[in-house]
Amino acid sequence: MTRVSAGETGAFRLAPSMLSADFSSLAESVAAVDAETDWLHVDVMDGHFVPNVTIGPPVVKALRPHSTKFFDCHLMMTEPERYLEAFATAGADGCTVHVEIGRTSQILQVARDLGLRVGLAANPDTDFSTVAPFLGDIDLLLLMTVFPGFGGQKFIGDVMTKVTAARREIDAQQLPVDIEVDGGIDENTIGIARAAGANVFVAGNAIFSAIDPLAAASRLRSAGS
Ligand code: DX5
Ligand code: ZN
Repeated sequence: MTRVSAGETGAFRLAPSMLSADFSSLAESVAAVDAETDWLHVDVMDGHFVPNVTIGPPVVKALRPHSTKFFDCHLMMTEPERYLEAFATAGADGCTVHVEIGRTSQILQVARDLGLRVGLAANPDTDFSTVAPFLGDIDLLLLMTVFPGFGGQKFIGDVMTKVTAARREIDAQQLPVDIEVDGGIDENTIGIARAAGANVFVAGNAIFSAIDPLAAASRLRSAGS
């Protein structure tokens, strides 16, 4: 199966978070929303950076033959550089690391050298000034709209100030960088985040906890694009 590319930078994309999918039948859950989604958001938690543990490279590898989607791996990890190669080998297309752990330039370079699409994430209480110096080194800026660790949390609207600042700076410098928002994205908040300047939307609960996930994804797409 030929893997689908990331697509045009800045274009609308909906990325279901498999965190809220049925882990006993991940391939089927992901396939069920294929027609109305663009990327697959893979939430990796190490029990250190966040107080929760989820999945690692073996699950990415197991899922890879079942989907042509761009695998957008969100590494909520204290030491992602130890695992980037394993994720790349397993079939990750993009890996996003958190700015809060430091060593940012070095870690981004490791990801770049592996041929990954490179993302940098910031928690809701991390200032834009912390990520701004790296905008020229990344393909994606992930601005968390909840504190990472769990699905199903409430969207933090205050983050929109940061989204607006990021969009202004990225456009002013004409940088090829996507702005992704993650956490509490639903039919109401997706439009708010879109208006603020985000273009990639992660949604877990709003898609996989719906009675009809495909219809929910379709409604999100309409509300956000
Ligand atoms: C939170 C994760 C998110 C989360 C989003 O730590 O990074 O991707 O699964 O889930 P919802 O859409 O349910 O807030
Ligand atoms: Zn995530």
